[in-house]
Amino acid sequence: MTRFTVNNQPVQYALDPTTPLLFALRDASNLTGTKYGCGSGDCGACTVDIDGRAVRSCTVQIGTLEGSFVTTIEGLSRDRNHPLQQAFLAANLVQCGYCIPGVVMTAQAMLRTNRNPSEDDVRRSLTNLCRCGIYPRLVDAVLQAAA
Ligand code: FES
Repeated sequence: MTRFTVNNQPVQYALDPTTPLLFALRDASNLTGTKYGCGSGDCGACTVDIDGRAVRSCTVQIGTLEGSFVTTIEGLSRDRNHPLQQAFLAANLVQCGYCIPGVVMTAQAMLRTNRNPSEDDVRRSLTNLCRCGIYPRLVDAVLQAAA
C-alpha cells in the first residue's frame, strides 16, 4: 500500500492504486476543498501541491505517490490565511468560488519559485479555468499577494 503525506499527516488509502488522488482526497480524507471539474486535467479545479509543484490531482494515481508530500487548500496555512487568500479576500473577487482553491494552489506553487512575477508570468502560470470569467481580477490579486 502506498504511503505518503497529506497536509503533513501520513496517509495510507485502502483504495485501488489507480484511484485518482482527487477522489482519495475528497472521498476518503473528506478534503472537499479540492474540486472536481473535468476529471481530465484540463480545468485545474483539482490542483494540489505535490512536492512543491502544482499538480492536477485528477491525473495522478495514488499508487504513484510513495513518499510524496501532498498539500491541499486545507493545509496551505494553519492559523491564518495565506497571503494569496488574504489578497483574494481584500479584492472581494470571488464569485461562485468553485475554481478558487485550484487557482490558489497553482499560484502558491508559482510564487514559491518566482517571488517577483510579472503580469505575463502570472497569466502563463494560471491556466485554470474560471466559469465566472474573473481572470483579470485573479491576475491582479496574485500580483498584489506577490508585492
Ligand atoms: Fe482535474 Fe479538471 S478536475 S483538471
